[in-house]
Amino acid sequence: MSFPNQRPRRLRGNPAIRRLVKETRLTAGTFIYPLFVVPGHGIKKEIPSMPDQFQYSLDKLPQEIEEISRLDIPAILLFGIPSSKDDVGSEAYAKNGIVQEAVRAIKKTNSDLLVVTDVCLCEYTSHGHCGVVKNEKIENDPSLSLIAKTALSHAEAGADMVAPSDMMDGRVGAIRALLDKNGFSDLPIMAYSVKYASAFYGPFRDAAGSAPQFGDRKNYQMEPANAREALRETALDVEEGADILMVKPALAYLDVIRAVREKFDLPLAAYNVSGEYAMVKAAAEKGSLDYRKTVLEILTGIRRAGADLIISYHAKEVASWLEEEKIQAETVPAFH
Ligand code: PBG
Repeated sequence: MSFPNQRPRRLRGNPAIRRLVKETRLTAGTFIYPLFVVPGHGIKKEIPSMPDQFQYSLDKLPQEIEEISRLDIPAILLFGIPSSKDDVGSEAYAKNGIVQEAVRAIKKTNSDLLVVTDVCLCEYTSHGHCGVVKNEKIENDPSLSLIAKTALSHAEAGADMVAPSDMMDGRVGAIRALLDKNGFSDLPIMAYSVKYASAFYGPFRDAAGSAPQFGDRKNYQMEPANAREALRETALDVEEGADILMVKPALAYLDVIRAVREKFDLPLAAYNVSGEYAMVKAAAEKGSLDYRKTVLEILTGIRRAGADLIISYHAKEVASWLEEEKIQAETVPAFH
């Protein structure tokens, strides 16, 4: 049976019916908000390539944490910019490193907010690579113990979850083993399982001062053309003990999100990265598109592709829009 019996437009006639049949929904609970912390005092510095995103010194964190909590966003993802760098990224696993101190400060402000820490060496190494370098080569196995040590130091500071983003082989297993050995067997790992060598990280590297000083990340991050390899990477992380999987970036990789969703049962995160954020901001600033509608469409698309949760710089804006919509939906009569 088709037209005239079938009329899909029947279910599009007014806002209330459209709301009822909506297949994919966004809620504040879907989001993790990334946050950058820097040493110093009294700093809330806007990141030039990422309008409305800031680097915070520790004393400026409580106000921001309260705002995130008030918006009902359940989790943040923490990145640190250290006061000094060296060739083995010592500040990444220093007891009183910037992230470790920030975790303690945030937990004091709101112990219920889930603090996820990005575990990587690139912000902390003088060469800007995510592992140990020998003769301009990024060495896999010697990097693992440093990465695991970093994760453990975050756990000891009070982090609720660790998120390794380095793409070394075996790092999820190495982190799991060291956490377990030290009494953190209940601490979950969100693995950046499928992380592509992407141009979309450009603004982030400004924000975190983590651009590689020589070469690129192509010998550890994935080739953007590869989707089958994404499933292989994910399978390895599952075997090694990952609790949450991730695809990153999101927008150019919706097919990969879908493929991982279909093959694996673990919760799946998508990282709506800095370049995806900056692109929409820039276009909206030029007046080329409607910012709010575009952001909601992109994030809905990422969820529709199969992501359970989204790491996004838009999280706070979206949470406040959703609050507004809720107020509207509750005050406007259903049919009018
Ligand atoms: C590495 C890391 C990066 C991002 C998150 N963790 C950058 C990179 O791999 O070069 C990118 C996040 C973004 O672009 O928003 N520690």
